[in-house]
Amino acid sequence: MTEPQILYEGKAKILYPTDDPNILLTRFKDDATAFNAQKRGTIVGKGEMNCAISSHLFQMLEAKGVPTHWIDRPATNEMRVRAVKIVPLEVVVRNIAAGSLCRETGLAVGMELPRPLVEFYYKNDELGDPLLTIDRLRLLQLATPEQIEQLRQMALQVNQILTAFFQECGITLVDFKLEFGMDAEGNLILADEISPDTCRLWNQAATDPSQRVMDKDRFRHDLGNVEEAYRQVLERVLAHPV
Ligand code: TMP
Repeated sequence: MTEPQILYEGKAKILYPTDDPNILLTRFKDDATAFNAQKRGTIVGKGEMNCAISSHLFQMLEAKGVPTHWIDRPATNEMRVRAVKIVPLEVVVRNIAAGSLCRETGLAVGMELPRPLVEFYYKNDELGDPLLTIDRLRLLQLATPEQIEQLRQMALQVNQILTAFFQECGITLVDFKLEFGMDAEGNLILADEISPDTCRLWNQAATDPSQRVMDKDRFRHDLGNVEEAYRQVLERVLAHPV
């Protein structure tokens, strides 16, 4: 059988068309990249694990009223999704200071933020996904003021739901990145994936700063046991029904 044509290949997933123009197939890869693909590697089993984790979280969010692109999971590493036009923004929500926020502001890693911080980054690899101001967002016409406000509200709602869910799993949701798409009717819906590739997740049972990391920071910073950490997240997530 010939491989179906590829619609788009990203760093962690491949997108295929289906017989239905309103539906796409996403295949999750084991490939891992960091620092805008300057660091490359493989996390064995990541494709299946991230597909399972994302599917579980999208179903839970749908059940709680958040519109997502998720349809079903026809294979362990494949997700069928609604075809949307991706908004070229990475919407990051932070509950605890970590990563680029600490690097760029000097805040101490682990500081609890007084309220969730929502940030918009330009999804553009050539430019290195820069942090945008609201005025730059408008200048580039990436979203209308109404859409920006809607994205912020949806991101905060997702944060509330995910924070409570991961809490039940004994995991602290430090921060995460979301992507949104626009459907044919112009509605914004949650797209892409939600997984240890796109979230910072800290194990509440561990206190040591490197021991507690259950996400892609293990790969980014060579902390070891990457597959085991992803497996732990998968097991805990699946143990908590949607
Ligand atoms: P940052 O602290 O590096 O800005 O990352 C914030 C969150 O966004 C963190 O949970 C990791 C996630 N993220 C992605 O999903 N993709 C990316 O390309 C980057 C830079 C971060």
